[in-house]
Amino acid sequence: MLQIKVKILYNKKIKVNYFHLVLRIPKIAKDSLPGQFFNIKVSDTCEPLLRRPLSIHRVKGTNIEFLYEVVGRATQILSQRRPGEYLDVIGPLGNGFNLTPNTYNLTPILVAGGIGVAPLLFLADKLAYSVERRAYRKNKKFKLSAKRYPLNALVLIGAKSTGQVLRKKEFKALGCEVKIATDDASEGFKGKVTELLKNILPLAISHKPLAIYACGPRPMLKEIIRISKKYNIPTQVSLEEHMACGIGACLGCVMNTKEGFKRVCKEGPVFNGDEIIWVGKEEVG
Ligand SMILES: Cc1cc2nc3c(=O)[nH]c(=O)nc-3n(C[C@H](O)[C@H](O)[C@H](O)COP(=O)(O)OP(=O)(O)OC[C@H]3O[C@@H](n4cnc5c(N)ncnc54)[C@H](O)[C@@H]3O)c2cc1C
Ligand code: FES
Repeated sequence: MLQIKVKILYNKKIKVNYFHLVLRIPKIAKDSLPGQFFNIKVSDTCEPLLRRPLSIHRVKGTNIEFLYEVVGRATQILSQRRPGEYLDVIGPLGNGFNLTPNTYNLTPILVAGGIGVAPLLFLADKLAYSVERRAYRKNKKFKLSAKRYPLNALVLIGAKSTGQVLRKKEFKALGCEVKIATDDASEGFKGKVTELLKNILPLAISHKPLAIYACGPRPMLKEIIRISKKYNIPTQVSLEEHMACGIGACLGCVMNTKEGFKRVCKEGPVFNGDEIIWVGKEEVG
């Protein structure tokens, strides 16, 4: 983990309120893991005072990419920063998705709600790369190329409307099967992505053992965990709690778990679904 001033290479709107930010971070790009995040100081002044956490969206060479939604003051300021300017960042922070050798025996289902797509594309990149490496180790004649060994993953993306569906093309390019759920029926399944998951699971589970990885609003994650428990599917979720320090010092982001309180910024943001104890009322996602 480093605190470093890095150059903005690219920062452009991709659709509606969503922006794509690319930073050159040579020292740490290669050590970053899916699910980890950077805490970013969006301006050179003390307004806003707090850094803002953004998940790593992709790593390409020495560049780290982010996908963010403008929702308030800090993300608005960030959207106005220009290539060539510098940002003060701390990262990579937190614990990402836990990928063990057994992970690759399970068919991944990635479930994204809105901007929750951000860390899941990096996860798909990593899974595709590992699948390819394993194929290569089995057969040294095999030419390394993501196109020959596509990632056999199912990606479910939920959005309010078709204009807000993010990164469908990029997941498909990795070989994933992509299904969309929109609240207004403008694309794919009409309704919540959790309903889509519920519809798909009975058939999917009969073919192969599955693993679920999800990121999105709290109610959505809570519902996914409830559904996955029913089918006994290992599930990891990335939480996007409000944060202050982002480095484990202030206890401003604690979650109740079966092992006691854990800090989302330090022990998370990725947790096993069955370890979380939800408190408070979440609307069903
Ligand atoms: C580990 C982590 C990774 C994240 N990754 C991404 C990412 O990749 N892309 C992205 O767009 N956003 C991500 N977020 C959320 C992002 O940090 C917030 O949207 C951002 O801090 C908002 O700052 P703001 O000043 O623009 O808005 P604020 O003025 O702070 O908030 C605007 C509105 O958004 C709500 N809000 C703010 N932060 C959060 C939050 N963490 N969870 C739920 N609601 C919130 C506020 O309640 C308010 O209604 C992540 C958060 C965490 C904790
Ligand atoms: S934000 Fe301070 S401990 Fe997590």
